[in-house]
Amino acid sequence: MPAPVATTVTSLMSAIADVGTDPVRGGYSRPVFSVAELSLREWFLSEAAARGLDTETDRNGIIWAWWNPGGLPLRDAVVTGSHLDSVPGGGAFDGPLGVASALVALDLMVTRGVRPRRPLALTVFPEEEGSRFGRACLGSLLLTGAMDPRVAAGLVDDDGVTFAELCSANGLEPAYLGRDDEALARLGCFVELHVEQGRGLVDLGGPVAVASSILGHGRWRLTFTGQGNHAGTTQLADRRDPMIPAARTVLDVRRIAHVHRGARATVGRLVPTPGGTNVIASRVDLWLDVRHPDDAVTERIVYEISEAAASAALREGCGVSMVEESLSGSVDFDRALRDRLRVDLPGVPVLPTGAGHDAGVLAAHVPTAMLFVRNPSGVSHSPAEHVEDADAESGAEALADVLTDLLTS
Ligand code: GLV
Ligand code: MN
Ligand code: MN
Ligand code: MN
Repeated sequence: MPAPVATTVTSLMSAIADVGTDPVRGGYSRPVFSVAELSLREWFLSEAAARGLDTETDRNGIIWAWWNPGGLPLRDAVVTGSHLDSVPGGGAFDGPLGVASALVALDLMVTRGVRPRRPLALTVFPEEEGSRFGRACLGSLLLTGAMDPRVAAGLVDDDGVTFAELCSANGLEPAYLGRDDEALARLGCFVELHVEQGRGLVDLGGPVAVASSILGHGRWRLTFTGQGNHAGTTQLADRRDPMIPAARTVLDVRRIAHVHRGARATVGRLVPTPGGTNVIASRVDLWLDVRHPDDAVTERIVYEISEAAASAALREGCGVSMVEESLSGSVDFDRALRDRLRVDLPGVPVLPTGAGHDAGVLAAHVPTAMLFVRNPSGVSHSPAEHVEDADAESGAEALADVLTDLLTS
């Protein structure tokens, strides 16, 4: 195996710092299979090849890079990785930090002379954010069979491109999307390192935490319909303006979330059609994101919001429909693996998260754990997301310690 080519997370992160910058929104926009995300996937493949890893892209577009110096059968593998796609105008670390840390953790293990007794795979999952096709964790949902591949193939992005078309354009066969028993059979456990997306570690004062759980979460699309019309000639009494119930609903979302302790409910995207300053919209689409530790409460919140939206629409003489785009239950990470990580990393705190991850999807199939690295801004899905260089290296060292334990004992 060649000598490690990069030994710090900071140097790897700086090598990709110019890829997918968004001059309008700030930060990074790296939708799945965009020029930017494809270039990061190429970057990862070349970093893996430089380390002598065997790489493959599976039928769902997940990249696997294998470290298997003993030529062991590919089963019961330890797997680590994250994603390279981003939300629109996202930060540098959400996703790439876990991928860069996986590479550096491997470098550290090679330098330390670790002799693995199980194969290790470094992975990159596509469309973790769901920012292009609306389904977060699309790659891991397909891998595990949690999503119907025909539904996935038919998803359409904002430019009218279907996921199937995009797959074909990128060397994937849409007919082969879906549950991959061969890939699942290789998996022994999964550990994802991720930038912390809140301020838990800032308040606790440490660089690294182990994850305990993920809030249940879902996404819904509400479509309000009315009568498109002229902004100057239409009397207020004659309007059926769908923007009015949409706006009331945004406020109701906040009001209802307040009633349910621990809830998070967000409208981060609202699209009026046709979208002219002097045009009363004929239609307004808005997307709702709801999260809560108790799945029954999530359901209750969404029901209350749907009732509020229906009554707001009625008052304006408008219509409304609501479609669930995705729903994942809350996840408690594997207790035994979590406890093992805490032994490997004495004194590290254990924190829950409100953010979704491929680790949450994989948790239904294999023992899964996560490590969080301190984010001094406490802000994520924003250019303000940050990790100090020293913390990034501490994260990779913690990951190397955990992987060493899992690979050798
Ligand atoms: C993805 O990062 C999410 O939690 O929405
Ligand atoms: Mn992420
Ligand atoms: Mn994210
Ligand atoms: Mn995420």
